[in-house]
Amino acid sequence: MRVLSVVGARPQFVKAASVSRELRRDHEETLIHTGQHYDPELSRVFFEELGIPEPDYDLEVGSASHGRQTAGMMVDLEAIVEDERPDAVVVYGDTNSTLAGALVAAKAPPALVHVEAGLRSGEMTMPEEVNRVVTDHCSDLLLAPSEGAKRTLEREDVAGEVAVTGDVMYDTLLWIRDRLGGPADLAVPEEYVLATVHRAKNTDDPDRLEAILEGLRRVSKPVVFPVHPRTETALRGHGLWERAREDLRMIDPVGYVTFVSLLEGAVCVATDSGGVQKEAFYLDKPCVTLRETTEWVETVEAGWNTLVGADAGRIVESIESVGKLPPKPDLYGGGNAAGRVVDELERRWRG
Ligand code: UD1
Ligand code: UDP
Repeated sequence: MRVLSVVGARPQFVKAASVSRELRRDHEETLIHTGQHYDPELSRVFFEELGIPEPDYDLEVGSASHGRQTAGMMVDLEAIVEDERPDAVVVYGDTNSTLAGALVAAKAPPALVHVEAGLRSGEMTMPEEVNRVVTDHCSDLLLAPSEGAKRTLEREDVAGEVAVTGDVMYDTLLWIRDRLGGPADLAVPEEYVLATVHRAKNTDDPDRLEAILEGLRRVSKPVVFPVHPRTETALRGHGLWERAREDLRMIDPVGYVTFVSLLEGAVCVATDSGGVQKEAFYLDKPCVTLRETTEWVETVEAGWNTLVGADAGRIVESIESVGKLPPKPDLYGGGNAAGRVVDELERRWRG
């Protein structure tokens, strides 16, 4: 089987790491990096730490508006798909790199496979929601992380075939945990809250961003905050950067090894990241989500994740009241999702 995989942003490197490892045991993979993320701490570090093979193509698309960025990727991807003629194109998650790969494959001979299919926040104003819906409705094979995601796809009556594989990010987390040498080589307080913010809804609206900072600064424990470049630009643009640096432990984005280690050492995490909500669950950490909605609804229903939006009062209150977590359900499989992804591909292409 010949598979062409498309990645481009930080969470996709984490997802593709386990699938790529499994896939390459018996099959041929061509890896394309769109270049959506290009700073070494958002890109290269993940390839090095997770042993991801060098991309066969780097499209170097860089940052741009949604249309320009997605279209730029599509032009190059289309030419590569025509040249390589793979059996399948695999896309991950919900970024513009996902959408570009999906739109190209949907109109070309290879089948389109979506890993992390069936997630919905219900907010069509979120760029990622548009990417998810369009990708799912173009896909031939939809690999869902949970039964709930599968039900969503059935409700939407998608045309492709649906299977539940579990979450491939869990595989990667287990892989890295086996290799962690010890605590992160960062000077962190004994007790701290870890925070990440990068959603467009939170960064582009100065009132929301300020309310989040206000909530975090009122927390009694120190807050360690690796800052996504989008967020740094927004903080500077809204005149909030200096104050944030005074009140919070703002650090550059860290590599995956350091981030997982920081999460393991934290009292809890406050985040608007999709991936981090799940990693908190896997590492037995309470999660306070700085959004009104989430795609990872099962973590909220299980009592492991609290949605607080950008409300300063609710942020402090939720972080200060984290305590014992309820019994842990099995939500997203047992960390063997990548193997199941490859099984599903083989089942489909064996015939
Ligand atoms: C993207 C994804 C989002 C995902 C996130 C993971 C889309 C629409 N959004 O958001 O779903 O959760 O990645 O982190 O695809 N920048 C740099 N260096 C880089 C990359 C970006 O400085 O290496 C800055 C640029 O100013 C850029 C901004 O960050 O304009 C936003 O980058 P972009 O990739 O467009 O979106 P993200 O916010 O990273
Ligand atoms: N992450 C990281 N360093 C950081 C912040 C996040 O390695 O400074 C990892 C995190 O462990 C998770 C992934 O990046 O695996 C999540 O990416 P992000 O929050 O950017 O995107 P999302 O999951 O929201 O799409």
